[in-house]
Formats: sequence, C-alpha cells, structure tokens
Amino acid sequence: MKPNTIASPAEAGTKLARVNVLIVGAGGREHALAWKIAQSPNLGDLHAAPGNPGIAALGTCHPLRPDDAEALLDLCRQLAVSLVVVGPEAPLVAGLADALRHAGVAVLGPTAAAARIEGSKSFAKEVMRAAGVPTASELAEARAPCVVKADGLAAGKGVFVCRTDAEARLALPRARALGGPVVIEELLEGEEVSLLALCAGEEALALAPAQDFKRLRDGNEGPNTGGMGSYSPVPFLGPEQAEELVETIHRPVLRELAAGGAPFQGILYAGLMLTEDGPRVLEFNCRFGDPETQAILPRLEGDLLEALAAAASGSLAGVELVAGSHAAVTVVLAAAGYPDAPETGVPLAGVEAASAIGALVFHAGTALRRGSLVGAGGRVLNVTALGASVAEARERAYRAVDRIDFPGMQYRRDIALRAVHAAA
Ligand code: AMP
Ligand code: GLY
Repeated sequence: MKPNTIASPAEAGTKLARVNVLIVGAGGREHALAWKIAQSPNLGDLHAAPGNPGIAALGTCHPLRPDDAEALLDLCRQLAVSLVVVGPEAPLVAGLADALRHAGVAVLGPTAAAARIEGSKSFAKEVMRAAGVPTASELAEARAPCVVKADGLAAGKGVFVCRTDAEARLALPRARALGGPVVIEELLEGEEVSLLALCAGEEALALAPAQDFKRLRDGNEGPNTGGMGSYSPVPFLGPEQAEELVETIHRPVLRELAAGGAPFQGILYAGLMLTEDGPRVLEFNCRFGDPETQAILPRLEGDLLEALAAAASGSLAGVELVAGSHAAVTVVLAAAGYPDAPETGVPLAGVEAASAIGALVFHAGTALRRGSLVGAGGRVLNVTALGASVAEARERAYRAVDRIDFPGMQYRRDIALRAVHAAA
C-alpha cells in the first residue's frame, strides 16, 4: 500500500476478516461504490439490492426494494452479510439503518433520527443554529430574492429559487403542495460545492470536494435534475481548505446531533455556497452524492471498504482518506424526456467501446432485455474519465461519450468547463 493512503486495520494489528458487503440502491452512485469496494482485498462476496446490470458484473444482484427493511435483513442473514452500504436517502430517513443495526448488522448510513438532517430542512436549520454553523438566513416572507423550500424529502423538486416576486408568489403554493411546513431563506450567490465527509459519531474525515451540475442544459439553463455531471478536484478548494470547512461545518453539526441523542454514522454531505462573506450551508444530505461519488471515488487511494467498515463500527481511528493528484470528470447521459417523463426501453449502444478507451461507464438507469442493454431510468449512464488535469479528464470523458449512443440521449457539453478555464 502506498504511504498516506487509508491505513489498513491489518497494518494496525487488527486483521479484518473478509467482509460480505450488501450495497442498497440501483444507480450510478451505487455502481461506483461497488466498483471501488470490489478492489478491496478484504472483500468477501459483493451483493446489491436491487443493483443494476453494471453492478451485476461485479457481484450478485437481488431484486429487493431499498425500503423493504425486513427482506433486506433476511437477505443479510442468508448471505452472512456483515456490512450494508446504503446509497439513497429515503430508506435511511425511513429507518433502514436502525432496523439492520438493531439486528446486529453493521451499516454505513445514519439512523432515522440522524438522517433528519436531510429529511427535514427545518430540523437541519435548528441543528445549524444550535451548532453555530453558517447557513442562509431565514426570512419571514416569500419576497424576491429568496428561496422557498418544502421541508421534507422531495427528490430535488422541493426547492424554488425566486429572483422575482412573481416567482416567489408561485413558489409558495407549490412548496406547500408538497406537504408539511415551508422554509423561506435568503438567496445566496457564489460557487456551489459538495463537501462529503465520512463520519462516525463526532469524528469526520473529508472526501475530495466536488461540484455537480443540477440544471439540464448547458450554461445552467433548463429544469433542475438529479445532477447532469460532476468533477473533482475543484480549483478553488484544496485539501487544506476542505479540512477547515469540515472543522467549521461538519464537526459542530456532528457534536450537536450526538448531544441531541442522534449520533451520525455514514456520509454527511454538505451542499455549500462559497459566498463573498464566507461559506454557507445550502443543505445537508445523509449519504453519498449522485453524481459526485462517480467523480470522487475514482480519485480515492487506498481501501474504501476498510474505511467504510471502520465508520460503521463507530470509529475512524487509523483511517485516512487521500485523493490522488489526478482529476476526474463525470458526464451523465440522460434519457429523452428527462427529468419530467424519461423514455425507457431504448437500446444502448457503445458502452463497451467507451470502456475500451479507458473510461468508467457507470450504469445509472439500465436493464437487460433479452440479453441487450436498454435504458430503464432518467439518468441512464455516467461516463467518468481520469486525467492528469481537469482539462485532460474532461477531454477523455467526452471522447468516451462520443462512443455511446441511444435514441434521444441528452447530456451537457459544459461539464467542468469553467474549472478548465479557471485553471488555464
Ligand atoms: P437544496 O436541495 O437545498 O440543496 O437546493 C437545491 C439547489 O437550490 C441548490 O443546489 C442550490 O443550487 C439552490 N439553492 C438552495 N438554497 C439556496 C439559497 N439559499 N441560495 C441560492 N441557491 C440555493
Ligand atoms: N448531486 C446532488 C445530490 O446527490 O443530492
């Protein structure tokens, strides 16, 4: 193992038995997790529920729903799974990690009580206020400029950025229609960055910062999506600044959660706006970002499985997360009609050709039909390439994208472009 990579418990004198791992989820994030975990010498069997055809090349997929805690627990018992890594937020907010942990299965992912940091925007605000963590100020009225947010999980559809009063007037009933309370806050300007940290109780270790691209079309136009691309590193946020941010944002929040009886284990993802007045938290997520993970993990040196197992067991002692000096760029290929009404069932061509020139093609929404790969979701494939610089990674990623084709394929052509210009 290279120096400065994740210290292995074996080196620290605690030999890790081979771990059977179950990944919960079906997207590109979960494929990237499976790909990285599959490299671990400590891996026993790799399983996924439900997984996807990309993950099936690395392990065994089981057709279970991520929210079916009972069936997942049965599966863990049958397969002697000793670590479950949960991808999406909804099962965490619903208490999947509690159910598994209660039955003695280690889980990378927070309890329902700690997952409220993502599941309720007003709870997140309360925690930030108590912890002294900078965030957008709350406003009493929806007057532009402002941002109106539905309190609960809304799969990215609950946030309305209002630059005019007309937008603000429309936003309020729409946010209310999603049910539950509504949070109104000041509209912040700046660079957005995703800073994920691996956490165990009050300990936190930063992963490499990344940026994602939420709008459908080039130039940040069009509707919000789950994310159309990502890249890492970000030119204006090095490892030292990332560590400073973890110290001012993640660790105080972890202490506050622990003090409130809800210690957090898993990935705490801070969506930050770097404003002229300093960093402000836009949101917390209680899991790996999608598609940030697809750009972060290929840069990570060392054994991810060991690090996740350590966090799941409650301590990060001896764990280091070091990103290589190379850059990664991920381009999301989405279906026709995405995000409103994605077309499924279309044949996907060129995945092998793209892999053959060195790209990582993560499956995000695919299925096998009579032995052929077809689209089965809004975001279909995620193409990641590494390079010595963001510019090189970007060029390689788009070269691989050129090899892939399916009817109605949509993607952005400007992923990481500003970062390339910033570095030039
Ligand atoms: P959230 O789900 O809270 O991250 O919001 C989704 C997106 O809305 C963010 O990634 C930002 O682009 C935008 N956003 C959220 N809150 C604010 C804010 N206070 N000011 C400006 N943009 C925001
Ligand atoms: N990329 C945004 C998210 O994972 O929520």
